[in-house]
Amino acid sequence: MKTPHTEWTKTSWKNYPALQQPNWPNPKEVDKVLNDLSLLPPLVFAGEIRDLKAMLAKASRGEAFLLQGGDCSENFSEVTAPNIRETLKVMLQMAVVMTYAGGKPVIKLGRIAGQFAKPRSSDTEIVNGVELPSYRGDMVNKSEPTKKGRTPNPKYMLKGYYMSAATLNLLRAFTRGGFAALHRVQAWNQEFVIKSPMGRSYDRLAKQIDQAIKFMNTIGIPIDIPQVNQTQFFTSHEALLLGYEQALTRVDSTTGDWYDCSAHMVWIGERTRQVDGAHVEFLSGVLNPIGVKIGPDCNIEDVKKLIQKLNPENEAGRLTLITRLGTRNIEKVLTPLLRETKKEGFNIVWSCDPMHANTYTADSGHKTRDFNDILEEITRFFEVHWAEGTIPGGIHLEMTGKNVTECLGGARNIVDEELHSRYDTTCDPRLNAEQSLEVAFQIAEMIKK
Ligand code: PEP
Ligand code: CO
Repeated sequence: MKTPHTEWTKTSWKNYPALQQPNWPNPKEVDKVLNDLSLLPPLVFAGEIRDLKAMLAKASRGEAFLLQGGDCSENFSEVTAPNIRETLKVMLQMAVVMTYAGGKPVIKLGRIAGQFAKPRSSDTEIVNGVELPSYRGDMVNKSEPTKKGRTPNPKYMLKGYYMSAATLNLLRAFTRGGFAALHRVQAWNQEFVIKSPMGRSYDRLAKQIDQAIKFMNTIGIPIDIPQVNQTQFFTSHEALLLGYEQALTRVDSTTGDWYDCSAHMVWIGERTRQVDGAHVEFLSGVLNPIGVKIGPDCNIEDVKKLIQKLNPENEAGRLTLITRLGTRNIEKVLTPLLRETKKEGFNIVWSCDPMHANTYTADSGHKTRDFNDILEEITRFFEVHWAEGTIPGGIHLEMTGKNVTECLGGARNIVDEELHSRYDTTCDPRLNAEQSLEVAFQIAEMIKK
């Protein structure tokens, strides 16, 4: 049994400042909901969490590549079979491109089945002259700008649990029940993507895989095997609402260790990564693989303290540092972090989030990101790693399988005037299916080097 630092308990985070928690109007109701949640079954099994950690250990050594992606913020009203299927499809497509063209196994990790709580830069906002609590995600309040809608309601945490369970159930059915089988690679291409340049490139690649599988079958190599018929898909979200995470944290009966069973991987956001804060304290004691977002203000001393607290045994696969630095800062900030952590021999999965430091408001008033900036941050990320002799281990994207117009550019060159036509996000702008595929093709070129 692994022991977390000696004073850690499921509730020790309460002795530390917890930023970004909702102002729940009625603490008694919150306690009741959290108690109910603590009696419900875990959403994932510790054995699966350990599988993911072992795969991430490979990514830290360059033997696999992490693809983490999904909505900025999931919405209850969008938890439908078509939406879950389309997100899964595009992630499967991206993974197949990166595995086949890039030559590396890809770890598929959704920002899904629990990504319902959001940090905000301010507790309140002014809408039409009225000050309202900010929208903090569907697990806290509603996005509709009314006093009633914006009042935090703890029952939404229970609803979030059930929505996560329903999503996970369908993901498990799709990935185990034949939908993700490799002889269906061509079928994952979506109508609206097929006619695009990326759709055609994908179709060519899918045909090659199809031929390879048919060939194997013809010469008698069995293709009715899990490696062909099934896939492993993991879930993740930002561990923001510590009461919720605590309620889903359980002792694994097979090992006696603590795991946060709300998802396979959880991460700490840029706004809550204080070494002496409640989020870092809480996650220091569970054995899940964890992520920490690293923004441009983070220096090597902060990173070392985080490593010391979150991964004192230097276990490979335990810690993923997700850098979100922006095209202008990445080289300057990332270089010393890589140099020093390499010198110290720290085992880290370095993952690139090219979204969060490249956000701006377009002339039309939409919060957006430019595809060229996203690609540039990814390219720089690889280049800095190559220069330092370290391993670029993964990518973290806000993306959807839907045909949205939220980020500018890409092969079809979405322009400012088009943003309004299918701008569906309630939080940050996502890459659409075609833009996501384009990123996958570009990354494949870089991981095969
Ligand atoms: C996010 O991933 O949606 C997010 C809020 O990111 P960050 O913590 O990096 O700002
Ligand atoms: Co976001």
